[in-house]
Amino acid sequence: MDSIELNYSNPLTEVDREYILITPTYDDDITDVISNFIEYDNNIHFLKGFVGSGNKNFDNSYCFNAVNLSKKYKKPLLFTFEFSGTDKDIRQFKKDVLAIEESRTYQQS
Ligand SMILES: Cc1cc2nc3c(=O)[nH]c(=O)nc-3n(C[C@H](O)[C@H](O)[C@H](O)COP(=O)(O)O)c2cc1C
Repeated sequence: MDSIELNYSNPLTEVDREYILITPTYDDDITDVISNFIEYDNNIHFLKGFVGSGNKNFDNSYCFNAVNLSKKYKKPLLFTFEFSGTDKDIRQFKKDVLAIEESRTYQQS
């Protein structure tokens, strides 16, 4: 599937199709740069939800960037995983993304 890797130099990137946003968890700057992307042009209209990567040792702050963005934009938190995810996480993630992809094709046809 197509993907865009956001960084501090390209938050003003326009998307023209439904997407999910995957974010690691570090600090509030992450929320800010992603917010700039979401609020750019019509990007919010195509946003299906968030996925967070984090570390459970951070306890209550586990995946807080994805959690906060989900609340801020009232879009679902679809999935969270630790670090790069286990094999099980990857299988589940692919299943979830495929379901979104299929519903997108269905809606457009
Ligand atoms: C400085 C620092 C702060 C972090 N803070 C959090 C945190 O508050 N909550 C969390 O779930 N994970 C936290 N993490 C773990 C990262 O989110 C995790 O390593 C990352 O999601 C994996 O993606 P990466 O491969 O891009 O590092 C932190 C990691 C670092 C290095």
